Amino acid sequence: MTVLVTGGAGYIGSHVVRLLLDRGDDVVVVDDLVTGNRNRIPGVPLVEMDLAMSSAPTALEDVMRTHGVNDVIHFAGRKQVGESVLRPAWYFQQNIGSVANLLLAMERADVSRIVFSSSAAVYGTSEGPALREDTPQNPINPYGETKLIGEWLLADAAEACGVRASSLRYFNVAGAGWPELGDTAALNLVPMVLERIDHGLAPLIFGDDYPTSDGTCVRDYIHVLDLAEAHLAALDSLSTGGPRHDVYNVGTGVGSSVRAMIDEILTVAESRLIPEVRSRRAGDPAVVVADPLAIAQSIGWASQRGLAEIVQSAWDSHLLLKK
Ligand SMILES: NC(=O)c1ccc[n+]([C@@H]2O[C@H](COP(=O)([O-])OP(=O)(O)OC[C@H]3O[C@@H](n4cnc5c(N)ncnc54)[C@H](O)[C@@H]3O)[C@@H](O)[C@H]2O)c1
Repeated sequence: MTVLVTGGAGYIGSHVVRLLLDRGDDVVVVDDLVTGNRNRIPGVPLVEMDLAMSSAPTALEDVMRTHGVNDVIHFAGRKQVGESVLRPAWYFQQNIGSVANLLLAMERADVSRIVFSSSAAVYGTSEGPALREDTPQNPINPYGETKLIGEWLLADAAEACGVRASSLRYFNVAGAGWPELGDTAALNLVPMVLERIDHGLAPLIFGDDYPTSDGTCVRDYIHVLDLAEAHLAALDSLSTGGPRHDVYNVGTGVGSSVRAMIDEILTVAESRLIPEVRSRRAGDPAVVVADPLAIAQSIGWASQRGLAEIVQSAWDSHLLLKK
C-alpha cells in the first residue's frame, strides 16, 4: 500500500510517516518545507510543492499516479492562530485551497480514502470537560474556521464523489515518539515553556482566576505517538465500506491544568524557575477536554500515554534538538 502524506516533513506528519514505514507501507511525502524539515524523513520520496498553488491538482494527480497512491493523510496546513487573524484570506487560500486541490487530484487519480488533520479549535467558544463530536462548533479565529470548512468539504466530497474520509480533531498535541522528531516551533505550551527555561525566563501563566481547581486553564494533552497511532487506525477503518465522512475527537479525556503541566516540565527539567502569572488572554476557554468515546467505540483507538511520558519525551527531544 502507498500512502501520500502531505505535510509529512512536519512534527506530527513525520511521526505518522515513521509508523507507516515501520509496518511496511510505502510512503510519498508532499511538503513545501515552510515549517517542515526533510531531515525528519530520511530516505522517503519527497515532492516539494505548495498544495495551495493553482497548478497543484495536476501536480498531485501526477504524484498519485507515479507512486501508485492508494490513500492520503493530509497534515499540510498553516497553524498559527495569531497569523490567521492577521492574514485570514491567505489562511483560507492555504488551508482550504489545499483540501480542495487534494480532493480534485484524488477524484482524477481515482483515490478515495483520506484522513484529515482537524483540530479542537473547531469548538471555539464551546468549552467543557467532555466535548463530544456533536458539541456545537463555533470557531473563534480563521484558523479554526479553516479546519471546520475542511471537514465540510470532505463531507460534501463523500456525498458527491464516493470519498471515504476521516477528520481527526486533535486536542493539545505534545511530546515526541522519537527525540529527533520533536516539535521545534514554540507555538504550544510545552515547547514555549522549554524555550523560556533555556533563556532562564519564568514560564508564563495567562490567567489564574478561571473556574478550575487551581484557577488556570485546563486542557487535554495527547502524546504525539498516540495521535499518530490514531491516524493508522482511522486509515485502516476506511478500507471497507462505502463513501462516508467520520469525525473523531483525538484526546485522552483527561484534563490537566496549565499550572500542573508547567510544574511537571519544571520538575523534569530540574528548574527552579517560578511561573509568572499574567492576565487572561482573549478567547482562552477555561476547560477544553475531549470525550474520546466515539473513536474508541468505532475504531478501537484509545490513548496509552500520560502526562509524565509526554513531558519526559518532550524534554529528551528538546535536549537533542537544541544542540
Ligand atoms: N500541533 C498541534 O498541536 C495541532 C493541533 C491541532 C491540529 N493540528 C494540525 O495538524 C497538522 C500538522 O501540524 P504540525 O504540528 O505537524 O505542524 P507542522 O508545521 O510541523 O507541519 C505542517 C507541515 O505541512 C507543511 N505545509 C504547510 N502548508 C503547506 C502547503 N500549503 N503546501 C505544502 N506543505 C505545507 C509544512 O511545511 C509542514 O511540514 C496541521 O494541519 C495542523 O493545523 C496541529
